[in-house]
Order: sequence, then C-alpha cells, then structure tokens
Amino acid sequence: MTRVFSGIKPTGHVHLGNLLGALIPWVERQDADSIYCVVDLHALTVPQDPDELRGTTLRLAQVLLSLGLDPEVCTLFVQSHVHEHTELAWLMECTASFGELSRMTQFKDKSDKAGRGGFVSGGLFTYPALMAADILLYDADEVPVGDDQRQHVELTRDLAERFNSRYGPTFTVPRATFPSAGARVMDLQEPTAKMSKSDDQAPGTILLLDEPKAIERKIKRAVTDSDGEVRFDVEAKPGVSNLLSILAGVTGRTPEAVAADYERYGPLKADTAAAVVERLAPIQTRYAELAADPAETARLLAVGADRARETAAATLARARDNIGLLPR
Ligand code: AMP
Ligand code: TRP
Repeated sequence: MTRVFSGIKPTGHVHLGNLLGALIPWVERQDADSIYCVVDLHALTVPQDPDELRGTTLRLAQVLLSLGLDPEVCTLFVQSHVHEHTELAWLMECTASFGELSRMTQFKDKSDKAGRGGFVSGGLFTYPALMAADILLYDADEVPVGDDQRQHVELTRDLAERFNSRYGPTFTVPRATFPSAGARVMDLQEPTAKMSKSDDQAPGTILLLDEPKAIERKIKRAVTDSDGEVRFDVEAKPGVSNLLSILAGVTGRTPEAVAADYERYGPLKADTAAAVVERLAPIQTRYAELAADPAETARLLAVGADRARETAAATLARARDNIGLLPR
C-alpha cells in the first residue's frame, strides 16, 4: 500500500479552502497507511501565546475528527507527542546545508516580512529539517501538500538521498502530491487571490465554524461581474467560476456540469450557500460534541500518538544506528 503522510499547522481558523483543497481529500483517501499530524512544533517558529496554542491545537484536532478522519482507520496525532520528531530533526539539520536552507523561498519571504531588526527565530530557518523528519520517520511514499510546500518536499527528498548514500539505506524517498486544479478556492471578495485564514473577520473567507447566517451573507455578497452569464471561465469570470467550483466541490460534481443548471447569479448564490451550509452542518454538530468532551479528544490523540511512535521509533533507531550513535 502507499504510505501517506501530511501535516497541518495549528494556526488561525480552518476555512473552506483548507477543507476542499486539503482536508476532504485526506478524509476520502484515508486507510491504514495514512498518517496525519497536527504539527504544533511548526507553529513555534513564531512566538505563541501558550493558552492560545493549546486551544488552537485541540480545536484543529477536533475539526479533523469532525470531518471524518477516523482514528480506527488512519493515524491522527499531535507532533509534539512523539518526541522522535525533534530527535530526527537534529540529524536532518546536520544533513541539510546552510546554503540549502537559505534558499527556501518560504524562509526568505517570512524573514523579509519581519523586516530589518524584526525577530526571526532560528527555528524558522531550520523548519524544513523538522518537516523532513516528520515525513521520513514514517517511510512515507506520498506527501499531499499545497503548492507552497513543493520546495520543502524536494529538500526532504534530497536529504533522504544524501543520508542514504552517506550512511546506507535508511529512508524511503517520498514524493509530493498536489490537489487537482479545481481544488483552489478563491477569496469571495477578491476572487483572483486564494481564500486564506490570515484574517478572521474577512468577508471573503468562509470558516468551517461560521454560522449559517454568516455563510449566506458572505456568499450573497460575493463579487461576480456585470455580464450576467453563468459560465465556468476562471480567467474571464473569476468570481462566478469560484462559486461554481465551491458548489461543485461540496456536492461532488464538476463546475462545468453545475454551470449548465443556472442562468442567473441569484439562484447560483442561493444554492451555493444552501449547499455549503448543508455540507458543514453535520461537521459542526460533530464538532460541538467533541468540543464538549475534550477528554475524549485527548484519548483519541493518545491512541494516535502511540501508533505513530511505533513506526517513528523504529525509523529513528535505524537512523541512529546507521549514523554511528552508540546504542542506548
Ligand atoms: P494553510 O492554511 O496555508 O496552512 O494550508 C493548509 C492546507 O490547506 C494546505 O494543504 C493548503 O494547500 C490548503 N489550502 C489553503 N488554502 C487553500 C485554498 N484557498 N484553496 C485550496 N486549498 C487551500
Ligand atoms: N510546512 C507545512 C505547512 O506549512 C506543514 C507541515 C509540517 C507538513 N510538516 C509536514 C506538511 C509534513 C506535510 C508533511 O503547510
């Protein structure tokens, strides 16, 4: 079977783009060889409020469970619960070169954004080594990620190959997989930009836990265009095409097929809002149940961490041995 590993950072609120582009595909293809991780250590590259981090981590795990990730089928755990991640990360830091890490565009972007004199942690620089450790610990074949993570998975492949050639066969060399082209949800107010979780109050972002009224309002006010024709054409009609993609995404159809059902924007918006509300309702109900019982979530995450640790410990032992660390 194909071993799949992916991770999601506990920052901000999960939105419809995360759902259609990443998380629903995780749920749909889960099997005994799928491993999904809430990567809390990755959130530490920028200073965190401790209470908020605890809350966001727990909430994200509950969202993943509400979506239908089933701990009896796949492995779902929190990164920091399996200490092998940080231990292998050191070996990866020593396998990566300073030059390689310096060339990571995400590091360059984020450190540039901090500006001169701004705080840039060492962790932000070495983050791709931790990500490589996450992936390599589980002998993953495939790593489903967004396009922005392409370079990090490439680096992971290079590190695996370098380690294997220096110290003997140790790691499986993984490959990144990307969601299909239709899986890019755009901002409702600015349909040429990706929907993102950077702004909580954003009228163009539908959050997983938005009330039905908020969802209806946001979709009703979504930017369209003035030619009045319903047609799937991302270049010429980004707003309308985004609504068609969303409606298609939540109902499991294609945007072109959906477009054939509509002549006017009003009914398209009304049906898109209704379909999103309907798709999210059972998720929100399940989320409310889980949120009321954090002990149950903790139990499920402990089961996941135990299962993850078995594989991770074996890989780490192999890496330690091959690199020449004295057996403990
Ligand atoms: P992020 O919110 O950037 O941490 O991304 C978490 C996951 O959701 C990644 O796999 C992204 O590729 C995916 N994702 C984020 N925003 C969107 C979007 N607007 N449309 C589709 N997928 C997205
Ligand atoms: N760096 C990824 C992101 O920002 C999250 C991540 C951490 C990840 N470790 C991973 C993704 C391992 C895939 C595999 O989205």
